[in-house]
Amino acid sequence: MVLEAIRYSRGALEVLDQLALPHATRYDAVRSSRDAWQAIRSMRTRGAPAIAIVAALGLAVELEALRRDAALPPAAADVAALVDDRLAFLVTSRPTAVNLADAARKLRRVAREAAARAGDGGGGGGGADVADAYVRAAERMLADDVRDNEAIGRHGAEWIAARAGGDGDDDDDAALSVLTHCNTGSLATAGYGTALGVVRALHASSRLRRAFCTETRPYNQGARLTAYELVHDGIPGTLITDSMAASLLALRGRADNIAAVVVGADRVAANGDTANKIGTYALAIAARRHGVKFVVAAPRTTVDLKTASGAAIVIEERPAREVTTITGPTVDADPTTPAQTIKIAADGIAVWNPAFDVTPAELIDAIATECGVVEKGEDGEFDLEKLFGQEEGD
Ligand code: MRU
Repeated sequence: MVLEAIRYSRGALEVLDQLALPHATRYDAVRSSRDAWQAIRSMRTRGAPAIAIVAALGLAVELEALRRDAALPPAAADVAALVDDRLAFLVTSRPTAVNLADAARKLRRVAREAAARAGDGGGGGGGADVADAYVRAAERMLADDVRDNEAIGRHGAEWIAARAGGDGDDDDDAALSVLTHCNTGSLATAGYGTALGVVRALHASSRLRRAFCTETRPYNQGARLTAYELVHDGIPGTLITDSMAASLLALRGRADNIAAVVVGADRVAANGDTANKIGTYALAIAARRHGVKFVVAAPRTTVDLKTASGAAIVIEERPAREVTTITGPTVDADPTTPAQTIKIAADGIAVWNPAFDVTPAELIDAIATECGVVEKGEDGEFDLEKLFGQEEGD
């Protein structure tokens, strides 16, 4: 069975409810941009690329439904305005990951250009053309994401094998262990994954000894989702709590030592500062302390050249209950028993729950993208602009 967070065919979209995983597998229908917004806000859909794609496709199915019900505005300009309006709403769902804002900018442009081409002066007839152009562009994003992730996986795996592996003196040097954080796999993307795509590529080329994954408190994307993906794909995996990571990295030079930490990203600023799941920064500090390479794996849609540095990235804060409670079935429960939410903190305690942190570029050794791996130049800076051609202009 292929792990699919997003099931789409023209006019129909379903998302895997990631709040229920790994205990239950159920898909929710997304019929509109409002449904997509709710799926993203509630974290039934999460992960920067998946958020962007579900938002884009949520509006695509809404446009198809309007067309089916003969309710699509006939004028091209009106459909372009509707697209503008819905995209503006969708980007309010979660603020930190830039992929959604990037997708919205591109899709808005597609709709406006289609409206200009339709040239019906608001008189009607071109609305269907604008909807068509939008739907096709959203569908391309879905297909491109899988292709890009496979390329990220290949590039990242090659880099780690070449730059972070052993000295090649014995057979075991070929086998690398890596540590990853949060969930960046098929569940966080259209398929394959970014950092977990690198893990998949290492495994597929028989170079992976073991993937360690952190639990990733408070939402437990590592324990619930990454562990699930590793088991599902038969990749040797070991789960640790977040507080064990520094001790694991300190084992460098001993059996199962970690060759690299590989993480995803929600937004990479122009200077390489990277916002990712809370706890990433602590991993980068520990990796540097122990001489372990630190790799960010992300598509170009996560690179935000308009944000100069991490200081300008808005960090989402999530509800206190994610920290003070834990949800799941009780240990011996029948699988059909609904999950229970259990309090784990003292009543009345204040809570700070930032969903992301920013790792300074200084602590990052390489950024693996679908176009190759970017390392720092002699000046010690990442040149991320070179990843983009003319088509990326505003
Ligand atoms: O809060 P989440 O689960 O959406 O956070 C996800 C992450 O931080 C991922 O590392 C990032 O989005 C990259 S997913 C390919």
